[in-house]
This record gives sequence, C-alpha cells and structure tokens, in this order.
Amino acid sequence: MTILFDQERSLFHLQAKDTSYVIHVLEKGYVAHLYWGKKIRGTQLNRLLELKPRASFSPSDASSDYKLTLDALPQEYPGYGRGDSRYPAFHAQLPNGSTISDFRYAGHRIVQGKPGLPGLPATYTESEDEAQTLELTLKDELTGLTAVLSYTAFEQHNAITRSVRFVNEGSGVLELKSALSMSLDLPNDEFDMLQLSGAWARERYVHKRKLVPGMQSVESRRGSSSHMQNPFIALLSDGATEDHGDVYGVNLVYSGSFTAGVEVDQFHTARLFIGINPFDFNWRLEPGEQFQTPEAVLVHSEHGLGGMSRSFHDLYRTRLTRGAFRDKTRPILVNNWEGTYFDFNAEKIEGIARSGKELGIELFVLDDGWFGKRDSDNSSLGDWFVHSKKLPNGLEDLVSRVKAMDMEFGLWFEPEMISPDSELYRAHPDWCLHVENRSRTESRNQLILDVSREDVQEYIVKVVSGILASAPITYVKWDMNRNMTEIGSALLPAERQRETAHRYMLGLYHVLERITSAFPHILFESCSGGGGRFDPGMLFYMPQTWTSDNTDAVSRLKIQYGTSLVYPISSMGAHVSEVPNHQVGRSPSLETRGNVALSGNFGYELDLTKISEEEKETMKEQVALYKEVRHLVQFGDFYRLLSPFEGNETAWMFVSKDQSEAFVVFVSVLQEPNAKLNRFRLKGLDAKRDYKLQGTESVYGGDELMYAGLATPQFHGDFASKVYHFHAIG
Ligand code: DGJ
Repeated sequence: MTILFDQERSLFHLQAKDTSYVIHVLEKGYVAHLYWGKKIRGTQLNRLLELKPRASFSPSDASSDYKLTLDALPQEYPGYGRGDSRYPAFHAQLPNGSTISDFRYAGHRIVQGKPGLPGLPATYTESEDEAQTLELTLKDELTGLTAVLSYTAFEQHNAITRSVRFVNEGSGVLELKSALSMSLDLPNDEFDMLQLSGAWARERYVHKRKLVPGMQSVESRRGSSSHMQNPFIALLSDGATEDHGDVYGVNLVYSGSFTAGVEVDQFHTARLFIGINPFDFNWRLEPGEQFQTPEAVLVHSEHGLGGMSRSFHDLYRTRLTRGAFRDKTRPILVNNWEGTYFDFNAEKIEGIARSGKELGIELFVLDDGWFGKRDSDNSSLGDWFVHSKKLPNGLEDLVSRVKAMDMEFGLWFEPEMISPDSELYRAHPDWCLHVENRSRTESRNQLILDVSREDVQEYIVKVVSGILASAPITYVKWDMNRNMTEIGSALLPAERQRETAHRYMLGLYHVLERITSAFPHILFESCSGGGGRFDPGMLFYMPQTWTSDNTDAVSRLKIQYGTSLVYPISSMGAHVSEVPNHQVGRSPSLETRGNVALSGNFGYELDLTKISEEEKETMKEQVALYKEVRHLVQFGDFYRLLSPFEGNETAWMFVSKDQSEAFVVFVSVLQEPNAKLNRFRLKGLDAKRDYKLQGTESVYGGDELMYAGLATPQFHGDFASKVYHFHAIG
C-alpha cells in the first residue's frame, strides 16, 4: 500500500520508496499540506497541522476563529480571493467577471497504478502494483469549477508526481488565467533555492540563493523550456550539501513556457510551485470541457543533491523515457555538423562515415543541409526533399552506401520550422505562428510552423514518416532553432488566441507520439540549438537530448555537471570536436575532449577524413574504452565528486548497480605550480570489497577509496584529465 487513508482523521498518507507526503482535509473542506520528507510511519499525523492565531490582516471566514485563516493555512492547491493573499495555484474567471473561487473537498478515489495524462508526456508504471494514485476532487459549488488533483506515489522510486485536471461542471463559460501543476506550503523558509540557468552554449549552470521574503522564481516566456531557465528548482535545507541534508526538487514534464518558484510570506512559510507560465496564458472552458495540466515530479532526498539526482535519474531512465532504446546501450556516433557545416556532398559524407567505421564508430549522422536547396541557414526549412546537387543519387543511395560499411545511418530534421524562402511557405504563408497585420519576426531566417493546427500536424507526420520509411534510418536528430514570437494562430478565434502556445505543445506532443510510435526501432535525439529544450517532456518521446552546441570540453564540465542535477547521463549527448573549439576557441587535448565526452552518450563531431594517424590511434582507444564502460555511464549510478563551479578540478564517477565496477573521470582545468597534495574521495562503492584498478596491479579497498580517497593526479599542462576503471575482485 503506498497510499493510506485515515478516515477518522481525514488524512491521506502517501508513501513512496523512502518518502512520505501527507494531506489533511479540514472539517470545512479545505485541503491542507502537512508533510513532505523522509518516510515516517504515521500514526496521528493530523498533529502536524499547527495553527497559530493571526492578526485580522489575515482574514478568516470564521470570525470567531483567528487560527483558521487561509492566509496561514499550509495548503495543497490554493485559490484566490477568500483570504489567502499568497501566490495562487490557479486563477479562474467566472462569467460575471469575478476571479474569486472557493475550492472545497468533494470526494476522492485511490486507484492502483498511474492513469496516463491525455495528450501529455508523463511518468508511467509498467504494472499496477508499482504505484498508487490518489485523485482528490475539489469543487467550487457556486460556479461548478472542479479540479481533480492527482498524486502518484511510486513504491520503488523516491518520487511523488502531481497534476491537475480542471472540469467545468457549471453552466457558464469559465476562463483559466492560471493553472499550475503543483503548489505546497513548507512550514518555514530556511532553505536555499537552486536553479539551472544559462544561455545558448552555456546551459544549466548551477545557481543558488538564500530564500528571502517575497517572490523568487524562474520562468520561461519563450514558448519552449529554454536555454535560459530549466523547468526545475530545488530547495536545500540549511547546511544541505552534495551528500547530506534534506533536498526537495520539483521538475515540470513540459517543454513550453513555465514558471517555478517560491513565495516566502509574512509568517516565514515557503510556498513552492511549478506549472505552465500564467503570463500570456488563458484557457476557455465551455460547460463540460476539461483542462489537464502537465505533470510535476517531486523528489525528496535526505542524502543531499546527489541523492536527489540519482532518484530523478532512476525514475526518468526507467519510467519516463520509453521505446526500444530505453534499456539499450546507445551507439557511438559521428555527426558531420562541425566537420562540414552546410558544405558537403555524398563523397564527403561517405568519407567521414568510412573513417568513422575504421575507428569503431557505429552510427553516422547527417546533420543540417541535406534537403531543399539549403546551402546556408537562410532557406528550405519545410522542404523535406533531398538536395539534388549535394546528393544527386538521393538519400536512399547514400544510406545504403553507409549501411554497406556496416554503419547505422541517422538524419537531422527541424520539422517545426519554416523558412520564408521555401516552397512550403510560398504555398502556405498562413501556416506559421503569426498575428494578422503584424510583421513576422524572424530568427535564424526562420519562422515557426503553427503546430497547434491539425493540417500542419498532418503535414509534419506525413513528410517525416515518408522519409523515415524510404530508407533504413535508425536515428533521428529532431532540432528546433528559435523561440516563439507573435504567438497567434490563424485558426483560433480571438478569445482563444492566448491558448496558442499551449496548443502548440499539445500539437507537438501529438506529432511526436505518432512518429516515435510508428518507428520504434529508431533512436530519437531531441535538440534545440543544443540544450534549449532539455526537459522531461521531450525525454518522454526521445530518450536523449543534444546537451549543448558548446562542444568545448572545459565548458562542458559545467554544462554536463549542471544537467546531471536532474537528467540521467543516458539522456546527454556529448561529442569530441576539433580544436581550436568552434564556440570558445580553446584547445584541450584529444584525451581530455574524449574523457569529457565519454561521460555522456559518446560521439565525434569533426571531419574524420582530416585527422592524423596519431589522432586516429587515440580515437580508436577512446571508442574501445567507451564500449567497455558505456553500460556504467548510461545505466550506472552517478556520483558527483568535485564541482567545476567550486574549483579548478572536476570529478565524477559511475558505479554499476551491483557495485562491482566503477568508472571515474577527473579533469583539472588550469595547472598551478607547487600545488597542494590533495586527495579526492570516491563514492557509492562497497566498503567491504576490494577493487582492482584496470591496467595496473593495484588493489584498493572500497573503504580506502571512499574514506581516504585517491591522490589528486599531477599534470603538466592545462586542461588535463585522467580516468580510472575499477573492478571488484573476489
Ligand atoms: C543546432 C544544433 O544544435 C546543431 O547541433 C546543428 O544541428 C545545427 N542546429 C544545424 O542547423
């Protein structure tokens, strides 16, 4: 039983693997949040509700009872206008123009397993005994607005998921101005808020700040989850670190504009929330209509950030990503983008693929520029037919030549886009997001298809499926290279224009579901100018994401470290590219470029026909090493050892689930003369077992490696690195 219902006390106690989450329905029907944290047995948990009399500036609907003011009640899904002046979880407008609502408990049911979210990505169960779901119904009697709050507790994962389904059971039209996926009130504000923020080529840097009174939030208004903010925040209790202390992480399974934040109120409580960004959002609910919010994933860890990350990784690797590649090791690839950009022909591509084969690489990926008349980024998006000058014998011929080398073939698409200079645009100028009579803002010379439209969805499914069916393609890179402007749809009436951005996401998810399920043998990797849409929504359809357009090994330390806070290593694409690096001009050694890239889904992204014999030998060794360790990297437990945000050295490691094998990566950025003799400690090993370091005769105790650590390697030269592969003996 993962959800206990104490009828006498009107209490729901959700128990995930090591987590408890407690909800209490008060006599008046208000739904209070009592606890989220380390698992407790739970006897009389209503004791956890502590109410203090508050002054009359916090109104109470029972004037005799100043203790019960909504302004101080810890709540599960607070509304607006009846005494709680904190940030509401939803905001609805009634036919009379009022935006006041009053949700009270109206019933509940507990079901085995986890019902899916219609049209939206979400975590799932494979059998009904893996989880239980509580559906708690709240109703505003005056208007008929109903919200069904769903909570799933996973038996084998430290995760509670939440989402909300609104139903208009009234007789008038209602408008949702805001509909967050979750909200809860923590009893105090003694936390740091951690966020993953950045920019193109600098994604998901770790930022932390102490909570202060008022609002602190991160949000995207870009129509995608974005490079700038990730739909994730964590609260770290006072003193919590990488390995110790309570950490509370929330992540939104959504790829569009979002908000995530904390409001600290006058009584020092902290309201934590995440959901679709209410900014420029409005959803009309006719009588009988429903609105489903995306899912929020809540992870508590008492073992610091590391424990939180491993819980997210396990859940996402096994119960968010899907398809044939969920549990399969991922191929080593070579992508031609940084090697050729738009300047290639069939011979060049065959040459790169053949050189890749000699190194042991398993998959060749043809990037941008193979279609229409695309010789630069100023045309042809939408014209998904082969570029006859570059590939005169067609795509099928090229694919079969690469396949004949015993290499798999992958292809790049950017299906959500349209170039003004394209046959598609000349035929359908109204198919892009736009607003009547306003000029259309271009970005990288392109506009965005209005994927909220069914005819556009059909077009994308048809053209992409046609190409995938035309040749034995086994990998797709699905790119998306701009953010939204003039968010409007030619097909929606005025009163529904502000639904466009969310309808776009629903349309996109529909398209992705159709294409990925029709081609289950294809490995899909999502991309948005690198990591501009690195979120769990995309991972539901495509198990991996191109982490960043920045392929510099030193920059990647921070990018991959930050990304690993939430997302599994098996979701991160990481490639060795040429030096000087195209994005930052830095020149780390091939060895270090390899060691950083093999800490993800490994590949190369350079012109392999131009490398020296010496480089070839090093690459062969890298490829062979990755084949040896990829089961650890992609499916093992990940431990961060030294943070690139805190010092000159970065280290992380991967440990097999049975603790019999471990792979450690250590990188030192700048050398310091006469540096101190440091040691760095490993994690996650079995203290009682001995481990042999591969390539040596040295045997170390697991306890020695974890408590005394390894001597920090000494290097001569900057951007140096070393890897260690341990096997348990006996
Ligand atoms: C952006 C991607 O992140 C790159 O890897 C590459 O595919 C380009 N787009 C191609 O236009």
